[in-house]
Amino acid sequence: MAAVRDLKATEMAASGGDDAIELGKRHLIQPWPYAGSVGAEARALIGEGDGIYITDSTGKRLIDGPAGMWCVNVGHRREELARVMYEQAMALSYNTPWYTMNAPSAELAMRIAGHAPDDLSHVFYTTGGSSAVETALRFMQFYNNVRGQPEKKLILSRGGAYHGSTYLSASLNGRPRDRDWMDGADELVIKLSSPDPFRRPQGMSLAAFTDFLVDQFRDTVARVGADKIGAFVGEPVQASGGVVIPPDGYLKRIREICRDNDILYVSDEVVTGFGRLGHVFASGDVFGIDPDMITFAKGVTSGYFPLGGVIISERLLQELRRSNHPDAMFGHGLTYTSHPVGCAVALKNLDLLEESVLSHTRAVAPYFQAQLKTLEELPLVGEVRGAGLMGCVECVADRESKDPLQLDKDVGKRIDAHCHELGLLVRPLINMCVMSPPLIITREQIDDMVGILREGISRTMDDLRKEGVWRG
Ligand SMILES: Cc1ncc(COP(=O)(O)O)c(C=O)c1O
Repeated sequence: MAAVRDLKATEMAASGGDDAIELGKRHLIQPWPYAGSVGAEARALIGEGDGIYITDSTGKRLIDGPAGMWCVNVGHRREELARVMYEQAMALSYNTPWYTMNAPSAELAMRIAGHAPDDLSHVFYTTGGSSAVETALRFMQFYNNVRGQPEKKLILSRGGAYHGSTYLSASLNGRPRDRDWMDGADELVIKLSSPDPFRRPQGMSLAAFTDFLVDQFRDTVARVGADKIGAFVGEPVQASGGVVIPPDGYLKRIREICRDNDILYVSDEVVTGFGRLGHVFASGDVFGIDPDMITFAKGVTSGYFPLGGVIISERLLQELRRSNHPDAMFGHGLTYTSHPVGCAVALKNLDLLEESVLSHTRAVAPYFQAQLKTLEELPLVGEVRGAGLMGCVECVADRESKDPLQLDKDVGKRIDAHCHELGLLVRPLINMCVMSPPLIITREQIDDMVGILREGISRTMDDLRKEGVWRG
């Protein structure tokens, strides 16, 4: 033990600069690791951020292509946000939400409700997106228990979905690979098809594909029984599944089936919320739906503080208040529910969004989409798609088969490595590159971003050809 302690002391003295990477390799377990390198992985060390840029430990400045993790919406180094966090921590750094409350959380809930569709009036705060989805599902279970429908608990989810990394939220995930080595509450979840137009059967029209998805949903409800299904959880745009834009009218039709069958519709806006599509929430303003619950996180604080939440419909709360079980307790709460510092920074972040960032996003998004689309000229690119300031470049072996390069599953990582050299951080996803920069990005910066991406893909094509992996 003494030897271990001495080693730790030496390491601590040596820490700083590049040593941080070495210390991380020895002591950090990074998220999403592989067994072969778990607890022993060096990742690029980021030291600073400013606007849409981050700087790594070698001093290289990079465009933050994924805005952290779809979250740094108003950009890095916003003094207003830093100041409000300092001021709130000096005024009140924490209060127990078990018996007390704070003002920023109440004001923020009022303002969030003002942006949410229909009667979504109340907010339950969490620590991030996974805990928000978890909260929505536990609320559904509680609600149906109190209503005397304890059998009504199954959850509908879809292929390509990503809803989190806690046990129940992760059980909903439908992306390839995520669940290969992981357990889940599979008995509670039914998976439906991803509404991915690019991957629809060859020769099928978009209208027929939409009908197929809606029929599959309706048939599943009929087969399993509406009295067994508690909720449908869906991202308006499947984000980490590769920016899957659902066909027109699909979400509205699913919403109607849910309403007709008393199935709660949970719209997971952890990525799409707080500006990514040019509105605070996309469910109503972009897709014209009024869910029973909306989950949010990430952009609510632009990543400056870990905060998430669920907005819940007044109708559901009234039903509970009027039920025959006024003593039934929703046994759910987190130490950091309604955190005053998180809520204070979220209020300031919302000011910035409302003042200019939302309108800027709406103005610049068509240019962003058009410029990204030019990458379809490259033969490795099967499709470029997107909405607002989120986009995806999907690579394929050839456009006929749409084979996602089975021989080289990590083509996204190869592109990312080249782009890193050239000054752009990319979010690689198997055969895809996802782009979701800070919402303050300008046209000139979009040109830089797309230029680097074009060069990174071209270099990757050269590598693949040289290695004989691809003959495009
Ligand atoms: C749609 C969606 N839901 C939930 C989550 C989980 O959020 P968190 O990582 O904050 O727990 C994510 C994370 O990327 C997400 O994209």
